Amino acid sequence: MTLTPTGSQGPAADVLVIFGITGDLAKVMTFRSLYRLEARGLLNCPIVGVAADDWTVDQLIDRARTSIEGTGVTIDKAVFDRFADRLSYVGGDFDDPGVYDRVGQAIKGAETPVFYLEIPPFLFARVVQGLSEAGLTSGARVVIEKPFGHDRQSAHELAATLHQYLDESQLYRIDHYLGKMGLEEILFLRFGNAMLEPLWNRNYVDCVQITMAESFGVEDRGHFYDPVGALRDVVVNHLMQVVAAAAMEPPSRGDPTTLKDSQTALFRAIEDADPAHYVRGQYDGYLDIDGVAKDSTTETYAALRLEIENWRWSGVPFFIRTGKRLPVTQTELRLVFKRPPRLGFAPRGHVAEPNQLVIKLDPSTGVRVKLDARRADTARFAPIDLDMEFADEGGEGPTPYEVLLHAAMTGGGTRFTRQDAVEEQWRVMQPLLDAPTPIHAYKPGTWGPTAADEITAGYGGWRHPWIPD
Ligand code: BG6
Repeated sequence: MTLTPTGSQGPAADVLVIFGITGDLAKVMTFRSLYRLEARGLLNCPIVGVAADDWTVDQLIDRARTSIEGTGVTIDKAVFDRFADRLSYVGGDFDDPGVYDRVGQAIKGAETPVFYLEIPPFLFARVVQGLSEAGLTSGARVVIEKPFGHDRQSAHELAATLHQYLDESQLYRIDHYLGKMGLEEILFLRFGNAMLEPLWNRNYVDCVQITMAESFGVEDRGHFYDPVGALRDVVVNHLMQVVAAAAMEPPSRGDPTTLKDSQTALFRAIEDADPAHYVRGQYDGYLDIDGVAKDSTTETYAALRLEIENWRWSGVPFFIRTGKRLPVTQTELRLVFKRPPRLGFAPRGHVAEPNQLVIKLDPSTGVRVKLDARRADTARFAPIDLDMEFADEGGEGPTPYEVLLHAAMTGGGTRFTRQDAVEEQWRVMQPLLDAPTPIHAYKPGTWGPTAADEITAGYGGWRHPWIPD
């Protein structure tokens, strides 16, 4: 994974301002990512934290230290001292115009500030308006976190509000799935390998399966999760990004506009999802979680089928499933190829199993090719696996937030989501939101409701994910 994507377009940030720096995301993710960037020599500007709490800079530095240590990192004093020297703090209520004046003082002279809003979405517009009225947005980039609306209409309205103050090119919407093995890397694998590209279409592929399994549950996130559910939480954003990476045409250049045009073209070719191929599940015990309504029908599992109506993919179903409290934590993209004909020369007219190609995206990254071959232990032909963990070839890359924060600071817009793509993703899923199917209970530690098996019937069923030994 590279930290300098081809889409980098500068100029580099001369200050990073983090709204909500006293919150949970900063604690579990941001401090650690920034510290790791510092360790690599990739942090080059001051950092201003902003939050409602009445903190001193020393409190902020203490929070940074305990947060980084809390993620299991052993702190190198010289690196941490360099990082701490960058920090300053502005406290105040986001509804008070004075806070934006104080931010203005703290970043005086900055020409390309990056404002990172780690705050609830209902505050995005208020903060952006405050920054704009304080004269701080020209030359700025503003990074925001999902959710970008809760359906197509609200996504549209949120963008319209933000566009009053910012140009779309200034908005960097984080979808951290793109920071893992991201779009660029998957596209390179697909199109940089002549062994793969010619097969990557409806002539050879029978179906595509995307699985995002999580062994953990909703735990202390009931208040957030219950109004949201699996479809909104991870399918409409993270897994649609995987669909795009798997299915889009090669962009002819690496700049953000060309790349996102290709991505949006793919989304436009996806048919509205059909509730007839949508199964929702809820794990036993979910209703006891704090913040979850006692009669909640929110899904913690979703499985669905999408159709892409274009020359490359017409007739090839894309199956997606995700769930909490499944047996493992594993995300993968899997192409299942067409079955070869019966082989007259082979013993007993053996029919080979379909080949499969798996790209493992999380928690580690790798590639598996499933071929049929002679196995000495069976004296017959049987599937064998050619596996490659990327960690074994050059090591595991930086974490998603390191990649994304670095990209935001260097103006690498390719890794962020554009509004038209966001709205297309909601458009595809809207029928499932409008007509939610019945909820099926499933036991924690299982692969979700058996009703989901219907979705892949006729395509050999859901393939068991590649789980490293
Ligand atoms: C988040 C979702 O966006 O992504 C979570 O809100 C989900 O529910 C998480 O668990 C998965 O991402 P990661 O990086 O933890 O695998």
